[in-house]
Amino acid sequence: TSSPPPHRLADLETLAKRKLPEHVYNYYRGWAGDGQTARDNCEAFKRYRLLTRVLRDVSKQDTAVTVLGSILDLPVVIAPTAQHSLAHDDGERATAKAAAALNVGMVVSSWASCSIEDISDAAPVGVRWFHLTLQKDVARNKALLARAEKAGCTAVVLTVDQPVARRLKRTGKLAVAPDDWSLPHMTFGDAPQRGTVSYGEYIYACMKQPITWDDVVWTKTNTSLPVVLKGILSAEDAEEAVRRGVDAICVSNHGGRQLDGVPATLDVLPDVVRVVGGRLEVYMDGGVRTGADILKALALGAKCVFVGRPVLWALAYQGEDGVRQALQVLNDELRVAMAHTGCSRISDITRKLLVRESCAGCH
Ligand code: FNR
Repeated sequence: TSSPPPHRLADLETLAKRKLPEHVYNYYRGWAGDGQTARDNCEAFKRYRLLTRVLRDVSKQDTAVTVLGSILDLPVVIAPTAQHSLAHDDGERATAKAAAALNVGMVVSSWASCSIEDISDAAPVGVRWFHLTLQKDVARNKALLARAEKAGCTAVVLTVDQPVARRLKRTGKLAVAPDDWSLPHMTFGDAPQRGTVSYGEYIYACMKQPITWDDVVWTKTNTSLPVVLKGILSAEDAEEAVRRGVDAICVSNHGGRQLDGVPATLDVLPDVVRVVGGRLEVYMDGGVRTGADILKALALGAKCVFVGRPVLWALAYQGEDGVRQALQVLNDELRVAMAHTGCSRISDITRKLLVRESCAGCH
């Protein structure tokens, strides 16, 4: 018997927890340090309230946006996350089908369990971007860029917030790389044998670390696709991204999984947006759990949001159908939030619709 659809994305974690092996649940949920940043990402949204606007004709809400030239029906992109087959046997194929069904974007991780070709066979339509983890093997990097383009990806996402191997809390049970991991985009030429080293040592063995601005330029030079930098928090780095000719940035702290104690992404978003001044597209991720959260991020200048963990919970809960339901919940909630704030289209969403917590109730 299938369970009733979730009312809120927050419920999905509990539903997924019942289905997932403990080590997988802990890996997905994991954060760096004490989890201050992971929690703060969510709490930052609650520090803003929505100001309703009444007596406007909001009988229709148009939630479509154009990102990097592609139209999305919702300002939502599924964040790159590793190993969807740990959540469901259909892995990224199921996620991609759900994303295509609702016409939201999807970033396929370099750490995906299904190859980019298998994913595009399973879901031939859909706005899909490829997350490139730069590997020590330069030929492999070039080949991956070519494969992504051939498989229909329309942008490359470089994650720039992993200068060193991280240590995730709550991943104790994953101390050894599981034998059943399938990583069709990665090459482990000189890596130690699986099962003999820690999980961290194993997966980081093939990565080029740290990467620098030269690698950003290298990527721009070696693909005709637009390049998105994911993991920018400071206005200065955003300015540098503009100077280097990057096409878009995603304000992200990796869901609090890299350095604990960095600010919530929503809190640094306005500074980044201000310095960029429309010269490239700005997205954000971390802690987006409701349609109202999406509206708040857009009000502070993001063009769209990426959603990470809730998609994994939905996938674990009910595969493709679960992810569809989760996206549908976001869609419904965003429409309600737009209607109450007097917005008929995404461009109606402005900073004026937000009240900062410290100011709520005072004038
Ligand atoms: C991630 N994230 C991530 N980011 C990335 O650039 N490449 C990757 O392969 C992964 N893998 C990954 C695995 C898991 C299990 C999680 C939870 C996260 C980070 C991800 O793209 C995104 O930045 C955060 O998940 C966003 O925060 P929320 O929505 O999970 O709060």
